[in-house]
Amino acid sequence: MPSLELSRLRKNKALGDWVGQTTLSLSDFIAPYFVVEGSQVKKTIKSMPGVYHLSVDQLLKDLEKLKGIGAIILFGLPKTKDNSGSQSYRKDGIVQKAIKAVKKNFPQLITISDACLCAYTSHGHCRIIKKGETIDPVASLKILAKIALSQAEAGVDFIAPSAMLDGQVKVIRAVLDRAGFSDTGILAYSAKYASQFYGPFREALDSAPAFGDRKGYQMDFRNSDQALRKIEADINEGADMVMIKPALAYLDIIYRAKQKFNFPIVAYNVSGEYSMIKRSGLSQKDLALEVITAIKRAGADFIITYFAKDLIKWLK
Ligand code: PBG
Repeated sequence: MPSLELSRLRKNKALGDWVGQTTLSLSDFIAPYFVVEGSQVKKTIKSMPGVYHLSVDQLLKDLEKLKGIGAIILFGLPKTKDNSGSQSYRKDGIVQKAIKAVKKNFPQLITISDACLCAYTSHGHCRIIKKGETIDPVASLKILAKIALSQAEAGVDFIAPSAMLDGQVKVIRAVLDRAGFSDTGILAYSAKYASQFYGPFREALDSAPAFGDRKGYQMDFRNSDQALRKIEADINEGADMVMIKPALAYLDIIYRAKQKFNFPIVAYNVSGEYSMIKRSGLSQKDLALEVITAIKRAGADFIITYFAKDLIKWLK
């Protein structure tokens, strides 16, 4: 019997590194940013230590430190919120202004913008609500298309619709094509689960629903087959990349999606997953690297992570 060869393959660090199957590179990561009106604003978000509300000038300053990271995803906190989320599709809306400034100053950086209503509506839902607290799907699709178009006009590379409204990818694709933006891509939030892990983010955007919850439109965590059907539907509707969210409690979904679809998979390591590590009292670097490597090992091609800037340091 030969001696077991597995330990031979990790007898020292050099050998371990050489045979290591999963490698992280900075271009795998997408850094989220929360943009606010004003200038010189850099305000800590209490629920997410190390993450800030930034005005556009401060965002640009921060991006100088983001060398090597593949892309950013932008979320906006508007001046005012109303019932129909009317700040969401303005030419001079906060996200639209941010996209323009980023593209002008960092033309090589890939930009993604979240296209949703929850940060813009006073009720905090991702859709237009009719009287009696029911969703108006037609009005919602119309406004999502308007948001997408305004972001494309600002010059964004990818629109990321996150309202989980059936048909939203198809409608957005059609509107973009009709307006001459066939080059603007769509990153579909396809398998978005109704999750407690979004808690800190909702505090950051003040977007917790004022009544009810999002269980009617986000996925039930007991299901996995539905996630694959939703991903397939979004691919057929014209998505260029698909997302699974959250990541850590959903590695099986990431794995199955990568096995089944020959398609770029993005995993969102969300706010609650980030805060959990931040508050753990364990080694931040080791724990974050373990978690992020696991997400990639499961099959994610790209990872949205609030650790993006730390990873620049850690992977040196
Ligand atoms: C909005 C949206 C949410 C997140 C990204 N886009 C929250 C939600 O659905 O309430 C969560 C991201 C995070 O927790 O980091 N549609």
